[in-house]
Amino acid sequence: MTEVSPKERPQRGDSARPNFYGRRKGHKIRPARRALIDTLLPRLSAALRQPETVDVDGLFDTPPRDLWMEIGFGAGEHLAHQASQFPNIGLIGVEPYVNGVAALLAAIKADSLNNIRLFDDDVRLLLPRLPDGCIGRLFILFSDPWPKARHNRRRVFTMENLREFARILRNGAVLRFASDDMNYVRQALETVQKSSDFSWRPTGPSDWRERPTDALETRYEAKARLHGRSPVYLTFIRSGTRQLRVPKKTCNLKL
Ligand SMILES: C[S@@+](CC[C@H](N)C(=O)[O-])C[C@H]1O[C@@H](n2cnc3c(N)ncnc32)[C@H](O)[C@@H]1O
Repeated sequence: MTEVSPKERPQRGDSARPNFYGRRKGHKIRPARRALIDTLLPRLSAALRQPETVDVDGLFDTPPRDLWMEIGFGAGEHLAHQASQFPNIGLIGVEPYVNGVAALLAAIKADSLNNIRLFDDDVRLLLPRLPDGCIGRLFILFSDPWPKARHNRRRVFTMENLREFARILRNGAVLRFASDDMNYVRQALETVQKSSDFSWRPTGPSDWRERPTDALETRYEAKARLHGRSPVYLTFIRSGTRQLRVPKKTCNLKL
């Protein structure tokens, strides 16, 4: 979703909002999905839309065993898959692209998933309102690579955001990042290397070449494979101490 038409982003004019450069809308949404946006979305997003610190204990009727979050879930297939595999986990999905939100709402309804809450906006508006150490697992999958060097700062995986990820993830929590863009992969590794909050300890190439067994292939992952690009999966652990051990050949990871 890096192609942006002149009608689309960036949003300017509201100084409190960070500029968002992705797409917010795509093709016309079908009436049944539009109805879900009008009725179901407000129920699933209300608690995350409050201006104050999110009451994570009050997000779900039954307190979940843990709280996980996916940033930029696209059409939501991975998030829905996690929610149905792990019914005792609460999941926060973050996605400003309304057609993607509509697709996930349809899956939530079809599969009667009651462990998902949604924030249909830029994650940078939510991060500061999440309490310290409230998240046990964070997924950032095939995030827009913004390949032009001058656009790299639009990426989600930046040092600034990583500081917030470190704050909201508790010690031992997992940050899963996947991408088919080697430049972005390199940046993610370098950013983590500069931070003292995460460790990356691959045991071998299968660690970064194979999708974690509980994950589902996303739409963008499928697109990448179709075009002959091999994704890289990085699992970082929130460590709190400087433990990163990035192999010397990191920047030449063989896809
Ligand atoms: C390339 S798509 C990948 C979607 C999905 N994860 C997949 O693998 O199919 C990246 C998604 O991240 C979302 N995104 C980009 N910047 C974001 C931000 N600041 N906050 C939340 N979502 C964001 C975009 O709207 C887009 O849907």
